[in-house]
Amino acid sequence: MSIHDPHEVDDPVAAHQAWQNRTTQHQWGFYDSHRRALEALIVPPMRGGRICILGAGNCNDLDLRWLTEVYREVHLVDLDSAALETAARRQKVESHPAIHRHAPIDLTGIATVVARWADITPTVEVIQRATQKVLEIPVYPWGKFEMVLSPCMLTQTMNPVRNALRDKYPPSHPARLAIRAALRLRHLRTIAALISTTGRGVLAIDLISTEKFADLPRVPREQLDDLMRTFVNDGRHYPGLDPASLTAAWRGDGSLSSHLTPPQFSPPWLWHLGLCKSFLVYAAMFQGIG
Ligand SMILES: C[S@@+](CC[C@H](N)C(=O)[O-])C[C@H]1O[C@@H](n2cnc3c(N)ncnc32)[C@H](O)[C@@H]1O
Repeated sequence: MSIHDPHEVDDPVAAHQAWQNRTTQHQWGFYDSHRRALEALIVPPMRGGRICILGAGNCNDLDLRWLTEVYREVHLVDLDSAALETAARRQKVESHPAIHRHAPIDLTGIATVVARWADITPTVEVIQRATQKVLEIPVYPWGKFEMVLSPCMLTQTMNPVRNALRDKYPPSHPARLAIRAALRLRHLRTIAALISTTGRGVLAIDLISTEKFADLPRVPREQLDDLMRTFVNDGRHYPGLDPASLTAAWRGDGSLSSHLTPPQFSPPWLWHLGLCKSFLVYAAMFQGIG
């Protein structure tokens, strides 16, 4: 375990994330229903706690002013420091003493490694070494939190690996499965490490997108549960991130099951990323164990 060196991030994966964040930075209005769905899950039982948000980015899914009213400290973590800075400025909290920005932080540990895979085919050994590195989780020096929120960022940490290996190894290749499972495990362990013994964690997952189902934005809320079940049964969701897979990951790792209660799951909702792209989102919710 080592203290993370934030200065090691300077690579095309980070540049791509920054570009993606710039293209969606003015979507506060589109995010409205998504923001309210997330907010409902992170309302604290009382004022005065600390919240950590992993992948806060543009903060379009976070009303920072409201967060500073209900939490004593609001810690925003991201690979993209410019996104956090401009988000805080847009929401007029750039000098609010409760807001703490931590960036650039690579929450995968391999962003710079994966960036090199764009133009080459990494060998299985190279992928295995990266998988090992993913599992070397740093100790982040921000303390423990009453709430840890991951707002649809886990897929963003998995996409660069998926994209880099897509045409090089089949999806069922053991090295691809192993690195995907490692990225999921790292994220869950990171959440577990940051939650206080009485704290809670909310891991929001963008499970199905309009790329798989163009009519998604028009599905009524009361039909989303059935849609999610059907898509998961048919394997048309983001692989490895359905409720059963998350529960299996929690059960299969002693450090998770000894720090967190088993995940509970929220009903799904829709997140509109502009007019052209929407996601079905649901949340896995954990509690720290004392
Ligand atoms: C889907 S966005 C989350 C939504 C964001 N809260 C907003 O309102 O725009 C995912 C975020 O994860 C960040 N991210 C992606 N890969 C990361 C990594 N390896 N380490 C830290 N943050 C990462 C991106 O920069 C982006 O801000």
